[in-house]
Amino acid sequence: MNEVLRPATDSPQDTAGLPVLCVIVPTFNERDNVIKLFEKLQGTLEGIAWEVIYVDDNSPDGTWEVVRGLARRDGRVRCIRRIGRRGLSGACIEGILASCAPYAAVMDADLQHDETQLPKMLSLLQSGAAELVVGSRYIAGGSADSFNKQRAGASAFATEVAKRVLRVEIADPMSGFFMVRRDRFEQLAPQLSTQGFKILLDTVATAHGNIKTVEIPYRFGSRLHGESKLDSMVALDFLGLVLAKLTNDAVSLRFLMFAMVGGTGLFVHLGTLFITLKLFDLPFTVAQAAGAFVAMTSNFVLNNFLTYRDQRLKGFAILRGVLAFYIVCSVGLFANVGVAFSVYNQEPIWWLAGAAGALMGVVWNYAMSGLFVWRKR
Ligand code: GDD
Ligand code: MN
Repeated sequence: MNEVLRPATDSPQDTAGLPVLCVIVPTFNERDNVIKLFEKLQGTLEGIAWEVIYVDDNSPDGTWEVVRGLARRDGRVRCIRRIGRRGLSGACIEGILASCAPYAAVMDADLQHDETQLPKMLSLLQSGAAELVVGSRYIAGGSADSFNKQRAGASAFATEVAKRVLRVEIADPMSGFFMVRRDRFEQLAPQLSTQGFKILLDTVATAHGNIKTVEIPYRFGSRLHGESKLDSMVALDFLGLVLAKLTNDAVSLRFLMFAMVGGTGLFVHLGTLFITLKLFDLPFTVAQAAGAFVAMTSNFVLNNFLTYRDQRLKGFAILRGVLAFYIVCSVGLFANVGVAFSVYNQEPIWWLAGAAGALMGVVWNYAMSGLFVWRKR
């Protein structure tokens, strides 16, 4: 094991001119910030062989164009333009794995993270004192004054949950500012979730305490231009990550969301049934069919907004998608009833048979929706 832990050391003449440190900057609509950040890095990283990789999810504001322009003027700058994908964590993972530098840092494009800490972080890694250095807002000397009350509360709550439930021991597992030995990260990468934004928490939780971590304080500043990309949906991402890690990745975040949406479908179904039966006095079979139809539609809409928000269908694709979803769910219903029936035949316990059928249905719907409704373009 020790052998794997040691960073690959090449002879000095082999590594001359190669970067030692790669700074990964995920970007979405940050065109006004990327050059300023580059200038700051240039100032602070004098004497260090470094490069910067901006990982841009095809920003509508053309951030990638600005970065390309920068890259044409300076060989230390690279841009990965991802098409048809969204997500902070996935962008960071791809960026880190795209570099050959032995050390990788992740930071926001908007100058909220204190780049002057980078040399100190690097020397902690190079000396072997740490394999992961976290820029922390919640230890002495650090702060997050720029947070409004609401955001501060949410961040404190999530931090507490992460510490208790996932037994993560660092003070600021939600930090988006850290530096890691790339070989260690590379080992963990296949188990990390590309969805969501909690890349550091995921890394630390996945390592199960087997990564030597040091925290250094910094002041979380205010965003330069533009606005935060983290909306209230990140709470769902966080919940999903906690549940996935608790079940040892047996269930993915996306599957959990899909199943939760399926759960809401039950209430929609019953609600529709109630209205059509009591208010409109329709025959039961018609009401039942209406309930199923409305529930499928609301499940589709919710999945399109939540579960697959990184691949959201828009415009005409919605129509095609919803039709495909009806077909998938109808077949899923047969699978559901079929499995329930055969379980009941073996063992006539109604709730066991019912649950097995429902589980079969949701697994089927999930697998087929990924193939036919929200398939990767
Ligand atoms: N490629 C890509 N794709 N980049 C993204 C995406 C995405 O879907 N979403 C956000 N980004 C980029 C932003 O452009 C920015 O450079 C960085 O990721 C962080 O996003 P912000 O919108 O600036 O997040 P924040 O400042 O509100 O949140 C910060 O604090 C959190 C802790 O409270 C970030 O540092 C988070 O990582 C951190 O968890
Ligand atoms: Mn930010």
